[in-house]
Amino acid sequence: SFDEGGLLTERRIIIVSNRLPVKVVINKSGQFQLQPSEGGLATGLSSVYKRNDNLWIGWPGAFLDENQRSQVQPLLEAEKLLPVYLTEEEIAAYYEGFSNETLWPLYHYFPSYTLYKKDDWEMYCAVNRKFAEHVLRVAREEDIIWVHDYQLCLVPELIREQLPNVTIGFFQHIPFPDFEIFRLLPWRKEILKGLLGADLIGFHTLDDTKHFIASCSRLLNLEVMMNRIVVEGREVMVDTFPMGIDFEKFQQWARKERTLQNERRLRSLVGPLKIMISVDRLDYSKGILNRLEAFEQLLDRYPHMRGKISFIQLVVPSRDQVPQYRWLKDEIDKKVSSINSRFSSFGWTPIYYFYRSFQMDMLSALYKTADIAMITPMRDGMNLVSKEYVASKTDQKGVLILSEMAGASKELLHAIIVNPNDIEAMVDALLQAIEMPEEEQVYRIRAMQEIIAKYNVYHWVNLFIETLEEVKQQQDKLTTK
Ligand code: ADP
Ligand code: F6P
Repeated sequence: SFDEGGLLTERRIIIVSNRLPVKVVINKSGQFQLQPSEGGLATGLSSVYKRNDNLWIGWPGAFLDENQRSQVQPLLEAEKLLPVYLTEEEIAAYYEGFSNETLWPLYHYFPSYTLYKKDDWEMYCAVNRKFAEHVLRVAREEDIIWVHDYQLCLVPELIREQLPNVTIGFFQHIPFPDFEIFRLLPWRKEILKGLLGADLIGFHTLDDTKHFIASCSRLLNLEVMMNRIVVEGREVMVDTFPMGIDFEKFQQWARKERTLQNERRLRSLVGPLKIMISVDRLDYSKGILNRLEAFEQLLDRYPHMRGKISFIQLVVPSRDQVPQYRWLKDEIDKKVSSINSRFSSFGWTPIYYFYRSFQMDMLSALYKTADIAMITPMRDGMNLVSKEYVASKTDQKGVLILSEMAGASKELLHAIIVNPNDIEAMVDALLQAIEMPEEEQVYRIRAMQEIIAKYNVYHWVNLFIETLEEVKQQQDKLTTK
């Protein structure tokens, strides 16, 4: 880990992302508290910024008035977090609007869900400037500035304008779509130019990297040499860095006494039933409705499965002010209740559905108890949940069914890989998982654990930062020649 000297750079890293790794909530006695944020980016990077004098700049996840900000500020600063406060208008047009009604659906191949609103775009530009100003208040030229994700595409260029020689990395945690999809965006050139302010731009998969390079060359007519793009005489590198998880931490969680207690309780409640689990943020990209449909068809077509398997679906509330998410929540509610009312019997519930966050000791116990994890997004940049499930299997028994549309499917080749649009194939995958012999389960989980343990989140951070420093050194050599 970093504490053991694993992070190779000694330079200060300033992480910049829309959301801080904690969110501000008000507890029962009316006081402010910090709680871990959900989502891959926050969980993946939370250990990095604590090292040395690194810091993290981002939004604390809620609207706060002046008085509330002054109460929250010292709590955040004590954790080396520098807040960017957003007004209600900014949250509506920059976060819910342009980020989550324009870029998110477009980049996840849902063009029919995508809105193109000029006012949202203008607010996106303004909020990106606001983030850049916060960075510029603290940044020095010798720092490494690491900007994350689609909410902040313009920040690299905005920083570059003010600090021409500073080292800037950008990592996108969601897919980068094919040119034919990306070109639909009216502000496509501005987005590319904003990103190209960075020295290194990273994606989870080779396809994302290729798509980005193709868009730069076709839309901006830039010179491309393999994975280097020349921008006004400066070489920007684009490369693939599949994000990992803290494997050891998930193994440790799986062995904690509280987890084991929860696991025993769960097992005694479900008895000899097969347990299937799915864990997702509320999002149409996660394929929740298709998966429910596959489970319903399994019970429909194979009546002997009734009373034999229960499905635990955890949905973490997310972006609930965005209409498409509200609609999805209603649809899930309806689908779950229709399946349960159709198939339940005294003594057997087909689906246990939770719409809330869980503590780690419960999440870990659920991962351990589940005989099957069905992680079948319609499209996902990486999907860390699939890796967390595999990492939590201390006895190496369990089956992962994984969508081929998740970045993780490029690494977890020993999962049962499915197309989430192919409901029949998902039913077959379920049958295969239910019947898989133990030796085969162990063989597959072990193979996947080797990959996840080796390419963990520390490896990911180091590889990205080392590559970034190398790119910068090469640029410096070229300019001093
Ligand atoms: P995304 O970034 O799109 O939300 P990922 O699968 O990459 O998807 O990351 C989700 C993260 O959120 C995981 O690290 C997971 O542990 C965490 N998480 C998911 N569900 C819950 C839950 N019910 N309670 C707490 N954390 C959760
Ligand atoms: O991992 C992709 C991502 O969009 C992150 O940028 C984000 O933190 C996470 O999913 C959760 O989304 P949100 O921040 O909108 O709640």
